[in-house]
Amino acid sequence: MNKSSKLYIAGHTGMVGSALMRKFTAEGFTNIITKTREELDLRNQQAVTHFFQTEKPEYVIIAAAKVGGILANNTYRAEFLYDNLMIQSNIIHASASSGVEKLIFLGSSCIYPRDCPQPIKEEYLLTGPLEQTNEPYAIAKIAGIKLCENYYKQYGCNFYSVMPTNLYGPNDNFDLETSHVLPALIRKFHEAKVNNAELVDKSTLSPVEVWGTGTPRREFLYVDDLADALFFLLSEVEARDIYEQRITHLNIGTGEDITIKELAEMIKEIIGFKGEIIYDSTKPDGTSRKLLDVSRINGLGWRSKIDLEEGIKKTYEWFLKYQ
Ligand SMILES: NC(=O)c1ccc[n+]([C@@H]2O[C@H](COP(=O)([O-])OP(=O)(O)OC[C@H]3O[C@@H](n4cnc5c(N)ncnc54)[C@H](OP(=O)(O)O)[C@@H]3O)[C@@H](O)[C@H]2O)c1
Repeated sequence: MNKSSKLYIAGHTGMVGSALMRKFTAEGFTNIITKTREELDLRNQQAVTHFFQTEKPEYVIIAAAKVGGILANNTYRAEFLYDNLMIQSNIIHASASSGVEKLIFLGSSCIYPRDCPQPIKEEYLLTGPLEQTNEPYAIAKIAGIKLCENYYKQYGCNFYSVMPTNLYGPNDNFDLETSHVLPALIRKFHEAKVNNAELVDKSTLSPVEVWGTGTPRREFLYVDDLADALFFLLSEVEARDIYEQRITHLNIGTGEDITIKELAEMIKEIIGFKGEIIYDSTKPDGTSRKLLDVSRINGLGWRSKIDLEEGIKKTYEWFLKYQ
């Protein structure tokens, strides 16, 4: 790959896609192709095939997907399965037919069984039942992993998949109805701070309510770190490096987790909210721990660089500017 290689970033307007645009542009890439959803609906096989036949990208990263929190996953179950199966199958098949040199497909850590040993190794895929609330999404992502693996096995395509942990950063979804925990806490603490700004007596501040007991442990990766990992993988790691290890994909994370309580305290401190935090233990906690084993990607030569506090500060700066 060189800086004038033709790179198609599918989903460039999303949180991950926009981080990839920042990274590859900063690295001097001059031939990045993008299409908005209005220009190319990736669920449309004919349109996707035509796009690949005419544009002939050399490198592809699939960061386009129908993505959402638990509520959206559980409500729009059919769309989460159908849209994701269509988007990824159309791109992977058209990439194989048009001779793409390398393709990386993005999945997510929900592909692993609900009750996995921790930290989660790549080989735990398909060893137990999935979490029911996002099963359609997980099944689609597993199908994507298997497509890449089997286009490699049958046709030698240089295609493979990565499973990032929970991501956060610029362009995240901060809508309290549909967001993940970290952006939701940023919005809650920010609004609590702003709404109480005029209060002189801080003891009368309304508290910020956090769902669950605060005890579950979670891992968070700043999205620009993920873009850095994808740049490294696209430049240096081939499909055979993955499949020869008898795994189907690579985990990407920090290798460290914290409790939701520690996360809430950190965000409260960064935002400068002076009131109390209360934990609503009537709300579900979800699984008690979810941490990816990242020794394989570390062994290949990549590790995350942006620590959680720094990442949250950057995300809050972005939130203040654009939300
Ligand atoms: N967010 C996380 O915490 C997380 C964690 C692990 C893995 N991932 C993975 O990372 C990938 C990207 O996630 P994200 O958080 O960046 O999601 P996102 O912000 O929702 O972005 C999704 C992108 O896909 C595009 N898209 C969706 N449906 C499309 C269609 N039918 N045709 C064309 N484009 C379409 C969207 O276009 P519009 O702008 O038009 O909607 C957007 O550009 C996903 O595969 C996800 O599984 C995310």
